[in-house]
Amino acid sequence: MGRFDEVYKRSMEDPDGFWAEAAEDIAWYKKWDKVLDDSNPPFYKWFPGAECNTCYNAVDRHVEDGRGEQAAIIYDSPITGTGRTITYAELQDETARFAGVLSGLGVAKGDRVIIYMPMVPETAVAMLACARIGAIHSVVFGGFAPTELATRITDSKPKAIVTASCGIEPSRIIEYGPIVKEAMEISSHDVGSVVMLQREQCRSDLSGPKIHDWTDAMASAIPADCVPVKATDPLYILYTSGTTGAPKGVVRDNGGHMVALKWSMKNIYDVDPGEVYWAASDVGWVVGHSYIVYAPLLHGCTTVLFEGKPVGTPDAGVFWRVISDHKVCTMFTAPTAFRAIKREDPAAKLLKQYDLSNFRTLFLAGERTDPDTLHWAEDNLKVPVIDHWWQTETGWSIGANCIGIEKLPVKPGSPTRAVPGYDVQILEPDGAEAPCGQMGAICVKMPLPPSGLPTLWNADQRYINSYMADFPGYYMTGDAGYMDEDGYIFVMARTDDIINVAGHRLSTGAIEEVLAEHPDVAECAVIGVADQLKGQLPLGFLVLNLGVDQEVGDIVGDSVRLVRDKIGAVAAFRTAVVVDRLPKTRSGKILRGTMSCIADGTDYKAPATIEEPVVLDEIGVALRTVGYAQE
Ligand code: COA
Ligand code: AMP
Repeated sequence: MGRFDEVYKRSMEDPDGFWAEAAEDIAWYKKWDKVLDDSNPPFYKWFPGAECNTCYNAVDRHVEDGRGEQAAIIYDSPITGTGRTITYAELQDETARFAGVLSGLGVAKGDRVIIYMPMVPETAVAMLACARIGAIHSVVFGGFAPTELATRITDSKPKAIVTASCGIEPSRIIEYGPIVKEAMEISSHDVGSVVMLQREQCRSDLSGPKIHDWTDAMASAIPADCVPVKATDPLYILYTSGTTGAPKGVVRDNGGHMVALKWSMKNIYDVDPGEVYWAASDVGWVVGHSYIVYAPLLHGCTTVLFEGKPVGTPDAGVFWRVISDHKVCTMFTAPTAFRAIKREDPAAKLLKQYDLSNFRTLFLAGERTDPDTLHWAEDNLKVPVIDHWWQTETGWSIGANCIGIEKLPVKPGSPTRAVPGYDVQILEPDGAEAPCGQMGAICVKMPLPPSGLPTLWNADQRYINSYMADFPGYYMTGDAGYMDEDGYIFVMARTDDIINVAGHRLSTGAIEEVLAEHPDVAECAVIGVADQLKGQLPLGFLVLNLGVDQEVGDIVGDSVRLVRDKIGAVAAFRTAVVVDRLPKTRSGKILRGTMSCIADGTDYKAPATIEEPVVLDEIGVALRTVGYAQE
């Protein structure tokens, strides 16, 4: 039996022993009464009775252990032409002071704080400061519009919002002040205070009794110490797309999260304390939470916080420049970023200008790594390229090649095998295990290992309905795929209406809800269509009300603007077609999957229950007008 098999087997046969051992790497104020409380399924609790502090483990502990002068965060911002290195000692000081700012504003253990910030070190400081005082942060990605921010304010009821004057995109500066103001007006919840970090690229003129300037507040703050919280207390809420317009508030605990993330740094990524680790994502996504902020810091690494894009800031060589400048050993990003680089510099000429001798491994996630991208990265970087699969709900990999345990052969198109702790099974609709090679719903037998979501914020029933209802006793990932004879997982599609646009998870249902608000739209559908750069793009179908006298082009333009205004630029919704009717089954279900196949030119079989097969031909014609469904 290989080393990986041995470790995996132990995690299945003795999960308590396995995770108790991993938990020894974390500093606890008080040890657990029990490793796992399984008395109230599906609400499992890891390390009940234990007390800890995530900020202490990520920051203070390293200062006490002699890492005070080591870089904790390297901020590299090609978009502003600036950068800064923050040592662990400096991070401790800034975090303690910002924790003091929050405490001074009345934020206490269990209170929520929304963080709506760009990729600057203060974002990590704000997150860690919340953890320090036991407040629960909820980071909202900067590409979301005011309505989406408002939904999160209403649901999480924050005592404070931490924001900055602007975010910077290559094409424009996004003023956050007006977005936050509008979101607070839309939301029914009364936010106590707003802390605003002024950036020199665009200062915000927001003023008022509730608004506090970051720099002024920090100057007079009394540093706050780490407070013990329960291992089972929430560290954060991260909203992610669900099957309806209302996002799901994924809850992450303190104890289990630390244990799993710390374990993953050596066993999955094969990184040691003191090394430089770079996740080129955004703190607004789970990858940013786990692998820009928490895991590398828990492990005593240096984390790179990159404010830029893979191309255009200034060119397709910026990833290599960052790896070389900061001696990065391991990088993690989304395949779409590599497709963007490959498109601009197919022969990877820019790579030759940089010394990548410290670079050991590239990890990719967020979407399936297509074999083309995998081979291009392998051929040019000449290091192992590892696809790994995970979700907001788990906070770390479900499927990966755990190179710190044993590097298994790479099979293109597969994120390799189930990670220790995850009992992954492919289930048929009746709940039976699917035979090898046969597609089914990818599920994990409960309980999820540490860091898995204990529930959804204030929505226990939705947690059950979303993840457990179809296959009791299992967590349904929402992904469909198969497992081969070697136990390799192949993640092929979603079983719900989620699409993956440039590694971002979007709900087509949420876009449909916005389109349906247009006064001239009688009915609509949104599907994901294949895109060479972003993996998928959303595409809308609009059925107009009878007697509409507006120009069709205007209605399409309005609908595109509406989605941008209500969901945000991140939805990348740019195309809609007007059709007379939508293809449906006799029971009225819209055939979105079939429409996607027509758009992508892949084989499909119209379901026997289709109401009027001819509608599919009409859809093909409409799609050709916008460049899809080519014959
Ligand atoms: N704040 C505000 N707006 C943002 C934003 C942010 N943080 N991030 C993206 N946007 C905007 C973009 O400016 C763009 O707006 P536009 O319609 O005016 O051009 C829109 O949202 C879509 O952005 P994006 O999907 O990022 O597309 P892009 O064309 O700007 O860049 C890539 C394409 C591939 C370079 C880019 O998507 C990328 O770097 N992806 C990496 C993905 C990633 O890190 N995923 C996280 C999971 S690991
Ligand atoms: P998110 O919660 O935003 O991280 O998105 C999680 C979803 O992204 C998963 O459920 C998958 O659909 C998709 N995904 C993430 N990583 C991979 C991967 N390596 N291979 C295939 N799909 C992936």
